[in-house]
Amino acid sequence: MNSLFYRRCWVEVDGRALRHNFNLLHRLVPRSTQVMAIVKANGYGHGLVAVGRELQAIGANWLGVANVAEGAALREAGVRLPILLLSATLPEEMEEVVHETLTLTVSSWNEGKALDRIARLLRKKAEVHFKIDTGMGRLGCWHPRAREELSRLRQLPGLAVKGLYTHFASADDDPGFTRTQWKAVSPLFAENSDLLCHAANSPAVTRRYGFHANLVRLGLALYGVPIDRRDGALGLRPALTWKSRVSFIHEVDAGRTVSYGATYRLRKAERHAVVAIGYGDGYFRLHSNIGHMLVRGHRCPIRGRVTMDQVILDVTHVPGCRVGDEVVAIGQQRGGEITAGELAVEAKTIPWEILTNIGARVPRAYHHFRSKQAA
Ligand SMILES: Cc1ncc(COP(=O)(O)O)c(C=O)c1O
Repeated sequence: MNSLFYRRCWVEVDGRALRHNFNLLHRLVPRSTQVMAIVKANGYGHGLVAVGRELQAIGANWLGVANVAEGAALREAGVRLPILLLSATLPEEMEEVVHETLTLTVSSWNEGKALDRIARLLRKKAEVHFKIDTGMGRLGCWHPRAREELSRLRQLPGLAVKGLYTHFASADDDPGFTRTQWKAVSPLFAENSDLLCHAANSPAVTRRYGFHANLVRLGLALYGVPIDRRDGALGLRPALTWKSRVSFIHEVDAGRTVSYGATYRLRKAERHAVVAIGYGDGYFRLHSNIGHMLVRGHRCPIRGRVTMDQVILDVTHVPGCRVGDEVVAIGQQRGGEITAGELAVEAKTIPWEILTNIGARVPRAYHHFRSKQAA
């Protein structure tokens, strides 16, 4: 790895943590249950191709992506696992879907019919999972109609229905709603035991609902990020650390102001460190004046507004702090820790958005990976 890489702002991903989380989560479901690792949105910010290849090496049975481009990038990198496209596919994408042997999500007979026509023109049979809407209200056939639509879909010669699934809308905070969703789909799952049936996402597995059918689709928990404090005792290990460096240090007198909008005025003199990370890297502006980063293990408050490329920290209480010091925006440092969950609370969002928002200009470094990674 080029040492230039570590000069400014980067992400490190720990393959040992991914393996630990995979094994831990696998133990929460029956041995025979398959695992689909969800790697969409650049592998939840961890890096699509690197993480996809690693999860293949670790033992995932399937990968789940959002769209054809993500699936094609995995195929190009040599991933041979079956890959499910979790979003709807446009007719003009069908040729590539078939070429890359990706599995489609189909939500209705009408949608299936259009895709079947193209598959037949290409003289191919496309594998599909039929999605059933049990309360998510996004993709899927509304469940009372699902049995009939499924039997019609199974007659289309260009499509091979290989799976059935639904998606839980509130597994993290509404067990009653989740149970209702499960009840709406489980008879159809039972009638179609020749198909791969799946429903559970991370919270459904970590909260141990037991709704695993024969495959679970795991995203956030696989990356070691607890959804909230209830997941804390599980022992998941965050795989991602987001780092930067101190690029400038100066003493600032009482009465002076900091950053755009002059939203922070010093009551007493402070020592400030300018850090090479900003909203241009995907670090939310909402952390302005409330967030913290770790320097030499100390929690340092952000002063003033987060700017595009730089953040200002108060390092008055950090002995020996100097230019070049490593700064941690997410992760651990000398006993201190800042979690994606903590950032999510500050930014009034969810940990999924904190991770997937880490930008393309932030290089990712992979440590302790079994699969070979391009530098
Ligand atoms: C259809 C589907 N299944 C599974 C997942 C994984 O969810 P989680 O990250 O909660 O495990 C997602 C994530 O958005 C999804 O859209």
